[in-house]
Amino acid sequence: MQFEFTEQQRMIRDMAKDFAAKEIVPIAAEMDEKEQFPADVVKQMGALGFMGMNVPEQYGGAALDTICYVLAMEEVSRACASCGVIMSVNNSLVCWPIETYGTDEQKKRFLTPLAKGEKLGAYCLSEPNAGTDAANQLTTAKPDGDGWVINGMKNFITNGATADLLIVFAQTNPELKYKGIRAFIVENTAEGFSVIRKEEKMGIRASDTAQLAFDNVKVSAEQVLGGEGTGFKIAMSTLDGGRIGIAAQALGISGAAYEAARVYATQREQFGRPIGAFQAIQWKIADMATRLHAAQLLTYRAAWAKDQGGRYSEESAMAKLAASEASHFITNEAVQIFGGNGYSKEYPVERHFRDAKITEIYEGTSEAQRMVISAMELKK
Ligand code: CAA
Repeated sequence: MQFEFTEQQRMIRDMAKDFAAKEIVPIAAEMDEKEQFPADVVKQMGALGFMGMNVPEQYGGAALDTICYVLAMEEVSRACASCGVIMSVNNSLVCWPIETYGTDEQKKRFLTPLAKGEKLGAYCLSEPNAGTDAANQLTTAKPDGDGWVINGMKNFITNGATADLLIVFAQTNPELKYKGIRAFIVENTAEGFSVIRKEEKMGIRASDTAQLAFDNVKVSAEQVLGGEGTGFKIAMSTLDGGRIGIAAQALGISGAAYEAARVYATQREQFGRPIGAFQAIQWKIADMATRLHAAQLLTYRAAWAKDQGGRYSEESAMAKLAASEASHFITNEAVQIFGGNGYSKEYPVERHFRDAKITEIYEGTSEAQRMVISAMELKK
């Protein structure tokens, strides 16, 4: 067992850190305040190879390992959690399933522009009645000549209003329940596709989260991803990787809040001493640092497990559960250490506190992660 990153992993982390410090940190608070989608940052991330980090070079990707992806996600999210989720969805939830389940033709046509950052992707699984119960898909796909016609509504879709390409899950035969679900690649230019509304959110406010309608949207046979009845497994296996991305996002948010609080504890004086001289603050720092490092280890382990092949559902669920709950704890303690200043928009910890909450909800709530973990544990 080794606890060191490779030279390439360190290089990617440093590159992401420099990029985030120069291009994202100065505008992160304003983008959050104005709910402004970071189109320029996304373009630059595309040019750096951050939008298709694990995709093979022949399909326009950077062909890096999952640890590189986690380290870049951490640095981008440390600067701006909204930029982090945009990057994570494109990499994990859109590039990965097309690379894994797509035909060569689909990879050339859809994956390559996504991996190069020329196009942006979205993953459309959640519906008004399919949240944690993801198998309860009411969106339908019916055969139509050589292709299919899709009808339904999708909820809380990251990149929903800006994405060029959307992976859409739909039920083809309700009697078969989850075995009737199939996955489709839909272009945002398709007739019948529309954005119903954009959500106003507590955190990750610069990312676009939308409710979408599919009203007799026609897709060709070439836009079906995977075989008959495989849609639910495609959705779940894709989320196994997505959860590693969200764990990395949570680590980035935690890292930013922890570092701000650590420095503040050495500078802010009360009763004639830096507040870090008091045991009440020392214990908070110790607990924050320990939870951050524990979550990092679980996340790097999950990334490593993904690259070994085989199933890594439990590792990724543990990583997301630990990292998101750590980010809740750490950002809360950071606000507490900052006191009144922590509650003010003058300091970034209030943004980190708001951003942390979503990591316990999307790509499977903490309760869903516990379902995955306990199911695996009890089967052993
Ligand atoms: N990989 C491969 N197959 C899997 C799998 C995985 N990770 N997980 C389940 N399956 C298979 C099972 O083996 C089973 O197949 P068989 O019958 O052939 O054995 C089948 O799928 C059904 O599995 P379950 O019985 O476990 O399914 P379930 O309906 O009980 O669901 C659940 C379990 C864990 C609650 C699951 O529905 C779940 O993860 N829910 C959360 C949904 C979620 O994460 N939504 C996030 C939305 S996307 C988002 O947030 C994106 C964004 O924009 C940021």
